[in-house]
Amino acid sequence: MQQPNNEAPLLEVKGLKTGFNIDGEIYHAVDGVSFKVNPRQIVGIVGESGCGKSVMSMSVMKLLPVGIGEITDGEVVFQGSNIENLSEAQMNKIRGKDISMIFQEPMTALNPVFTIGFQLSEVLFNHFDISKQDARERCITLLKSVGISRPEKIVDEYPHQLSGGMRQRVMIAMAIACQPKLLIADEPTTALDVTVQAQILDLLKEIQEKNDMSVILITHDLGVVAEMCDEVIVMYAGKIVERTDVDSLFYNPKHPYTKMLLDSIPKLDVEEEALGSIDGIVPSLKNMPKVGCRFADRCPMATDDCRRITPELAEVENGHEVSCLLYKTSYPLEEVK
Ligand SMILES: Nc1ncnc2c1ncn2[C@@H]1O[C@H](COP(=O)(O)OP(=O)(O)OP(=O)(O)O)[C@@H](O)[C@H]1O
Ligand SMILES: [Mg+2]
Repeated sequence: MQQPNNEAPLLEVKGLKTGFNIDGEIYHAVDGVSFKVNPRQIVGIVGESGCGKSVMSMSVMKLLPVGIGEITDGEVVFQGSNIENLSEAQMNKIRGKDISMIFQEPMTALNPVFTIGFQLSEVLFNHFDISKQDARERCITLLKSVGISRPEKIVDEYPHQLSGGMRQRVMIAMAIACQPKLLIADEPTTALDVTVQAQILDLLKEIQEKNDMSVILITHDLGVVAEMCDEVIVMYAGKIVERTDVDSLFYNPKHPYTKMLLDSIPKLDVEEEALGSIDGIVPSLKNMPKVGCRFADRCPMATDDCRRITPELAEVENGHEVSCLLYKTSYPLEEVK
């Protein structure tokens, strides 16, 4: 586990709200999210589909669909600069170089009509003044560093000629080509089979350590979190409901949502069809409760107050934050067991 450190955070997200314009009205997919990522830290973001994990990362990258999605409040501070004040040209310099991103489905992120070498070189040309020959050599070195054998051959191949795992390795090579300080990995292994998934995660961890990189790892998979992360943020319906270090998430989870997510992890001794997902669904943006806890309708611990009082994220133990009325110290209820 990571030691506490006094270095300035690499990334600081403060009260971030990101809204989408739907039929002329703004609905917030990220609704007041604050967290920090320290140098060399791996922060996991978990939560079911539709909780705002990807919108949060697109906000950090300033890659929201123009005219549809926008940051309406809060700040994203990267290396001391508020990204809101950066021009598109300045953001382009940061994207790929200082912060880069890998996505779930590498086939959609790679262009089918260009060779691997061409696409990898593009990243290098965007940020460095190098010759074609040097770029080709760097591509080969990069492909080798992500565990691709025969990189001299692969560099001239097209995405469809590679397996899913190899394509994801290429995506990682592209993401680390400029040695970013922060890598945002949005479900980087979901599309892969379990063995390849483990190899890719090992690779990410190895690169993270070697390059002293920070990582935001977005995943549905708490097993991945246990293996990879220092700290974990649990999101529900656009808000952070729990934030803590990885050990206390597993040994001392507090929010009923986190507990239910943990209970839904596949167990070795349970039949496949018995695997739990949590009953009910994440409310859509248009159906978000205006007050109260957004999880109340699915929460076995919910009381009437949970539908009337909006809980706030508060530290309930050292470094462990929870947003739930059950933990509000002034609130006369017992802790959930
Ligand atoms: N372009 C868009 N226009 C309108 N609503 C959007 C848009 N993109 C995302 N949303 C909404 O924002 C909310 C959060 O979506 P987001 O993609 O961030 O979820 P997620 O946590 O990444 O889910 P998943 O685990 O499935 O990737 C959802 O309700 C989604 O429908
Ligand atoms: Mg997503």
